[in-house]
Amino acid sequence: MLYTVLIPAAGSGKRMGADKNKLFLELRNIPILVHTLRVFDKDPNCEQIVLAVKKTEQLFIEQLLMDYRITKVSAIVEGGEERQHSVYAALKVVTSKEVILVHDAARPFIHQEVIEQLVKAAGASGAAVAAVRAKDTMKKVEDGIIQETVDRESLWIIQTPQAFQYALLEKAERLAEAEKFLGTDEAMLVERLGERVHIVDSTYDNVKMTTSEDLLYGEAILNKREQEEQ
Ligand code: CTP
Ligand code: MG
Repeated sequence: MLYTVLIPAAGSGKRMGADKNKLFLELRNIPILVHTLRVFDKDPNCEQIVLAVKKTEQLFIEQLLMDYRITKVSAIVEGGEERQHSVYAALKVVTSKEVILVHDAARPFIHQEVIEQLVKAAGASGAAVAAVRAKDTMKKVEDGIIQETVDRESLWIIQTPQAFQYALLEKAERLAEAEKFLGTDEAMLVERLGERVHIVDSTYDNVKMTTSEDLLYGEAILNKREQEEQ
């Protein structure tokens, strides 16, 4: 099943503490953003990539697309103040209105098999997100005091991609904006409509490059994958 992916890349990467957008930092000499784009560029089911970027970084990103021969980017839009605004800006220019994926530019290690499962699940049911089970014991804490131990069986760590039928995501984004609701992911906007969002098992290596330690982890993942390919 074919899909379009929206990739928000208009953040500033404050927690990374670099002197530029973290997406331009390199893992094995290739920018994080390019690693992410390559996954979708070579997935035959991906029809189009829509990128949301900062205006001041657009030319640089266009150059990257040429240098690394990324061919599926059909539109580049200006991102917004918050991630949700960047995603909505990208959604507004989508032309193929079936399954839409939203994927953080900062998660370069997503597996194609997970993407396939997400597209299938969203196509069948409306909404599905990549997730992994919580590994640690989880507790609810208030003012430094444990209130309760939360049953780990019911806890999942949510990642991107998040996949939706176009009409559902469009409605969720439109209503969130009208009601000035700001969520931390797209699923939250769909959940508040009372719609069901399914979980698709993802992998623990689909990490988001957020702080500088993540870069070490990222290099290790790439090393491991290279060894596996040999
Ligand atoms: N993003 C975006 N528009 C924003 C904020 C974030 O498109 N206004 C993008 C980022 O570029 C990133 C993804 O959303 O690919 C996930 O966000 P996050 O990991 O939080 O990245 P940053 O916001 O850049 O980092 P930080 O929060 O540390 O500043
Ligand atoms: Mg952020």
